[in-house]
Amino acid sequence: MADLAGKRIVVGVCGGIAAYKAVEVIRRLVDAGAHVIPIMTKGAEHFIGRTTLSALASEPVQTSLWDEASPIPHTKLGQGADLVLIAPATARLLGAYANGLSTDLMTNVLIATRAPVIVCPAMHTEMWEHPAIQQNIATLASRGVHIVEPEAGRLAGGDSGKGRLASPDAIIAAVHQVLGPKDLAGVKVVVSAGGTREPIDSVRVIANRSSGKQGYAVAAEAASRGADVTLISTVELAVPAGVRVVNVETAAQMQAAIDAVWATSDVMVMSAAVADFRPVSCATQKIKKDGGIPQIVLEATPDILAGLGASKRPDQVLVGFAAETSDLVANAQSKLERKNLDLIVANDVSQPGVGFAHDTNAVTFLRPSQALESVSLTDKRAVARALLDIVVQIRASQ
Ligand code: CTP
Repeated sequence: MADLAGKRIVVGVCGGIAAYKAVEVIRRLVDAGAHVIPIMTKGAEHFIGRTTLSALASEPVQTSLWDEASPIPHTKLGQGADLVLIAPATARLLGAYANGLSTDLMTNVLIATRAPVIVCPAMHTEMWEHPAIQQNIATLASRGVHIVEPEAGRLAGGDSGKGRLASPDAIIAAVHQVLGPKDLAGVKVVVSAGGTREPIDSVRVIANRSSGKQGYAVAAEAASRGADVTLISTVELAVPAGVRVVNVETAAQMQAAIDAVWATSDVMVMSAAVADFRPVSCATQKIKKDGGIPQIVLEATPDILAGLGASKRPDQVLVGFAAETSDLVANAQSKLERKNLDLIVANDVSQPGVGFAHDTNAVTFLRPSQALESVSLTDKRAVARALLDIVVQIRASQ
């Protein structure tokens, strides 16, 4: 999906073991249509080859103020950029940037640019936690520099702790957040995610295979487009930047959490897989097997989405999901009408790579009296983008 088409992004790679991850980031930016101009510090050349970056990016890599014919490349690169992204950013680079020291091509570009800047620090935990580094990070953040915080995990030399470069996913999401459209600015969006768990006794539940990944992707995309996002979730994945999470477990808890925010929300995306049935009662102790095979009596859960559809105001947008294994369009169409939805996202979860637990999805969008729109197998963030494009269209027509 060429959603970064036409964007000029300077990607700066510093010397650190995480430099190899910059290769993946550059490839994904180019795949998304960006024009990527790579620069690297002398230190980075110890970790990855110039050829690797030059081959993947849109231009040959530059390392020095002096390797171009033009005498002023430091201002030229920064001036022409829509974004400068530094990944990984070392302690030295952060210190030089925070203090305005132009020591090499990369610091020159950073000081000369008026474009937004994202820095993705990576270093050992002791260095990351040092007051000097934290102060430099705070200084840069106060000037509007976007910081993609390092993650906890394995570091060079067998150490582990916070300091590992953020994942390519998190870095790409930050790029979208900075460069993407802000067409949901101030809009109150509620997203539900994950499968509910209905207790049988104090240790057992009736659950389903929903991973919550599609709901998290919708929440992340909505937040990056400026929405005020509440995510009501049964699963705990990495919380997307700017998203408020309410953790729930059962259908009843999910309904209570949604009821608390529904009246004041503009858009509701119901991507959770809500159990249709739950045990009538929950044993307070673990059911022991020497008591014989238990008979678990089930009752229907409330259809949360149908309830929202019945009380929906004309200025609210209500989006449902339909996970089907047969008759995709007919089943989804009937849910669209029965639950009074503005949009339903139908997926055939019997197909490989689609829906439950995958990082990818393939969906068909259905709207009242509108032609079907399909998105073939892609990552869940791209599906979220297409879904919210339609939500923006619906809001514009309300
Ligand atoms: N849904 C809900 N409350 C329920 C069941 C489903 O809010 N108790 C919502 C889901 O979050 C989804 C939509 O309804 O957005 C469709 O869910 P799905 O399970 O596909 O459909 P059902 O209405 O449960 O019908 P069926 O199980 O017969 O396919």
